Amino acid sequence: MLTTILPLSLAGLASAAPFTSRQVVPNYPETQLSKAFRLVANVTDPSKDFDPPVNNWVFNGIHTGAGFNDAVLFADGDSSGRVFYQNGTAEEIRYYEGSVLSDGGTPPFPFGIYVAAEDQTDADGYHDVSLNVGTGTKSVQLQHFPEIYPVLRGAGQGTYVACNQVVPYYNKEYVTIRWTYDIFDSETALYEHNIPDACIAIKLVAECATLNDLPEGSLSSHEYASNVNCYKDVSAIDWTKYGP
Ligand SMILES: *[C@@H]1O[C@H](CO)[C@@H](O)[C@H](O)[C@H]1NC(C)=O
Ligand SMILES: *[C@@H]1O[C@H](CO)[C@@H](O)[C@H](O)[C@H]1NC(C)=O
Repeated sequence: MLTTILPLSLAGLASAAPFTSRQVVPNYPETQLSKAFRLVANVTDPSKDFDPPVNNWVFNGIHTGAGFNDAVLFADGDSSGRVFYQNGTAEEIRYYEGSVLSDGGTPPFPFGIYVAAEDQTDADGYHDVSLNVGTGTKSVQLQHFPEIYPVLRGAGQGTYVACNQVVPYYNKEYVTIRWTYDIFDSETALYEHNIPDACIAIKLVAECATLNDLPEGSLSSHEYASNVNCYKDVSAIDWTKYGP
């Protein structure tokens, strides 16, 4: 009995479904594989961008002490943008137990991306993102399959932001990169972004780069640099063409 009813009802559904000319086929910008990448800021709501706009600016570190760098965005240019690689065994990368590194110093040693814990804030009450000597915060890695976009994960649930902020070490304003932890809205029973007024939400998108050879005597090692998906040129992507 069921075998005759089922095809009939399916056929009924199909003919009843409104057939529009535009079918929604997921379509995403093409990625490549690379061992190194830069991190390019994507302002998720362009109407909130700063003046001048920081969309497509790149992640860099400014020195704030021996082995410490604050994470900032610089306009894209020949010398700007740290080159990163993702470090870990295949297993670690798969389970988000690796981290993202960048080489610095002479001889080169590894700097990792650190994201401040929820109870750690800077002078302005923000959660710092920094590039310091060491492994970095584990699980701050590029998203991978089944996620579509190769963007940098943060700590817990939240979003990266770009902020107009005075960096005390220089007593000068920079566009800093910070992390915000979502807050639970008991009315909607949903987690919502919690973005300070001087900040805007960004994604940090991987753009393929070249991993330099390390000189003799380096303290860094590229033995565990994994291949990542990245875009050839993030600023050339017209996001309106992609979706759903
Ligand atoms: C980048 O920003 C645009 C809005 O300008 C958005 O449509 C797109 O999804 C963003 N890309 C990523 C990888 O988040
Ligand atoms: C890179 O990953 C390997 C494999 O887990 C680990 O032994 C090494 O300490 C990591 N390097 C850094 C600087 O964290």
